[in-house]
Amino acid sequence: MRIGVAGIGKMGAAIAARLIEVGHQVAVWNRTPGKAKAVAGARLAASPFELTQRADVIISSLTDAAALDAVYKGPEGLLSSSVAGKLFIDMSTVLPATEVALAEAVRAKGGAFVECPVGGSTGPARQGKLIGLVGGDANDVARAKPVIEQLCRRFEHAGPVGSGAVLKFAVNLPLMVYWQALGEALALTRRLPVAPERLMDLLSDTSGAATIAKVRAPGVAAMLKGGDPGPVTFNVDGGIKDMKAMVAEAKSRGVTLPVLEQTLACYEETKRHRSGAAEISTVSAYWADRGKQ
Ligand SMILES: NC(=O)c1ccc[n+]([C@@H]2O[C@H](COP(=O)([O-])OP(=O)(O)OC[C@H]3O[C@@H](n4cnc5c(N)ncnc54)[C@H](OP(=O)(O)O)[C@@H]3O)[C@@H](O)[C@H]2O)c1
Repeated sequence: MRIGVAGIGKMGAAIAARLIEVGHQVAVWNRTPGKAKAVAGARLAASPFELTQRADVIISSLTDAAALDAVYKGPEGLLSSSVAGKLFIDMSTVLPATEVALAEAVRAKGGAFVECPVGGSTGPARQGKLIGLVGGDANDVARAKPVIEQLCRRFEHAGPVGSGAVLKFAVNLPLMVYWQALGEALALTRRLPVAPERLMDLLSDTSGAATIAKVRAPGVAAMLKGGDPGPVTFNVDGGIKDMKAMVAEAKSRGVTLPVLEQTLACYEETKRHRSGAAEISTVSAYWADRGKQ
């Protein structure tokens, strides 16, 4: 199949590489062209418009609503000509209303649209083991399913467009709280005579841990000793962006999220003292030693 990937960030790069590996003809476009060039085996498109011309299915994985707007609706955007017969799958984490508006814009140009925000990071994306949280009309979803299933180990059709975005918030909310909770647990243990590696190995092996903890435990242990966490797959800024979207969505639904709101403030403090570009588990390391800073 001819597939285009718009947005060759951390996730887009892994998604494109996976699709090439399973035999698709993949074209890529990224605002910063150097990153797109790094995807071995992909054809480079000079603009989002050209990407649409070269593909039947176009996947986007972009930071936020502003990025989606620029890439879909800009002068040389994905939708700058008729897209009749083409299927768009957006895998970004954004507000449900953003996905609904995007779906309307795609349909107005004659295309089909499915949202598929994902659970899992770059490793699962590269291995086709993401969790796909799908929203869309049944026919469009059926069309998207074979491609999504090559990227995802689990496929959940949540309902119409916007439903996948809500499920994605439900997946991410406890995870955002987890990194903060881990930091607080570590703060309690800092005077114990247990090596950081052993402590993280223990904590990540218990029912109090998030699934990702095992993968990130060595990086957190390294940070507790003043070292580097290793490759950044999701950063503090990404967490803050997602939590702000969750708070906004909750407000529009008349729901309060007291723990998440406090967690957001804790991440913002981490960003001020460390960096928004830092690996997300930096939140745990920062709060573990906050008393000492
Ligand atoms: N990383 C994860 O573990 C993970 C997991 C699940 C879901 N997600 C979601 O997946 C999406 C992508 O995440 P990521 O980690 O791959 O982020 P990333 O590495 O920061 O990449 C973001 C992408 O968006 C592009 N972009 C941002 N603003 C733009 C604009 N105004 N115009 C055009 N392009 C723009 C960037 O282009 P440039 O390269 O030019 O900056 C880049 O291609 C986000 O919505 C994120 O929340 C991430």
